[in-house]
Amino acid sequence: MIRSRIAGIGHYVPEHTVTNDDLAKRMSTNDEWITERTGIKERHHRKNRNDSEETTAFLGFKASEKALEMAGLTAKDIDYIIFATLSPDYYFPGCGVLLQEMLGCDTIGALDVRNQCSGFVYAMSVANAFIKSNAYKNILVVGAEVHSFGLDFSDAGRGVSVIFGDGAGAVVLSAAEGEGKGDILAMNMHSEGKYADELCTKFPGSKYGWSDRMRLEPENVTDAEVYPHMNGNFVFKHAVTRFPETMEEALKAAGKTVEDLDMFIPHQANLRIAQFVQQRFGLPDEKVFNNIQKYGNTTAASIPIALSEAIAEGKVKRGDLVLISAFGSGFTWGSVLFEF
Ligand code: COA
Repeated sequence: MIRSRIAGIGHYVPEHTVTNDDLAKRMSTNDEWITERTGIKERHHRKNRNDSEETTAFLGFKASEKALEMAGLTAKDIDYIIFATLSPDYYFPGCGVLLQEMLGCDTIGALDVRNQCSGFVYAMSVANAFIKSNAYKNILVVGAEVHSFGLDFSDAGRGVSVIFGDGAGAVVLSAAEGEGKGDILAMNMHSEGKYADELCTKFPGSKYGWSDRMRLEPENVTDAEVYPHMNGNFVFKHAVTRFPETMEEALKAAGKTVEDLDMFIPHQANLRIAQFVQQRFGLPDEKVFNNIQKYGNTTAASIPIALSEAIAEGKVKRGDLVLISAFGSGFTWGSVLFEF
């Protein structure tokens, strides 16, 4: 029996922090509104909006270096990359190949996952399937975002732009054989594309690229169509339904109960969503890890950043039963239950 074991993990965020008060200087918002609605106090943005150094692939690279170090591996030991992001460096190709080059890996496979807030959970499910089928031994799974380049910091975008932050997390998932600690025990993934328009960025997109138009027209920019659109209330209502469903499904599939859990790490979408789910399952504070207060919602990066911090702080130890769950744009949602 091959086990899928997290051999290493790391995270990286740009140095520059942006507080709620900083945002209040740029748009009509305030610390009280943001804190009360989302729990967020600050987030990291790369310093210069036009900074071509701190790209999504670069943040992923910095997180990967740390994950490799913890795993005691080098880039040459990695035989597959899975990169989850909704904010890639280029429209195409994806960030996976850019990371392959930055790390100096061999000409290994590099897959990009476009499942937004659920991206990391989806990426882990693919990595687990590859490991269990004996296709690869060491897979680098990355979630990274640079949101700050693509948000509307005018009043029109305030309902979205206060929520999101930049950052990256990376995991080395390795094949292990025989008895020992560490394995992925259950996973489930879901989607409901009829709600695609409730949380999306439409441009540039081929749906709008009819023959006499370019990929982007100036009016798409002036009409703010290049920025993310989110029906916040609608997303919230679906999230608080889907989180419990996917969590219960994962626990049941592994023959576990919520009492068996050592740690629950939800996608850091909104502290109020996480608290609702915690209450619903009666989980004590020490069994739920949140860090949205410091990072905002970093989409595909939020779970690996949180897991990396929880491990670094000693809140998740080898052998612990950990559940990671996400919900987001698509809509997509899912969970991975694992022994660390
Ligand atoms: N600062 C101050 N006021 C703001 C604001 C901001 N940053 N953003 C919006 N507002 C205003 C609105 O304009 C509105 O004003 P009005 O009543 O005069 O029209 C008011 O605040 C309430 O807006 P609303 O959107 O109804 O607030 P809300 O209570 O639903 O909270 C979210 C908004 C986005 C925080 C909330 O819906 C949410 O968290 N949804 C889930 C989103 C999520 O998790 N997304 C991540 C994807 S997984």
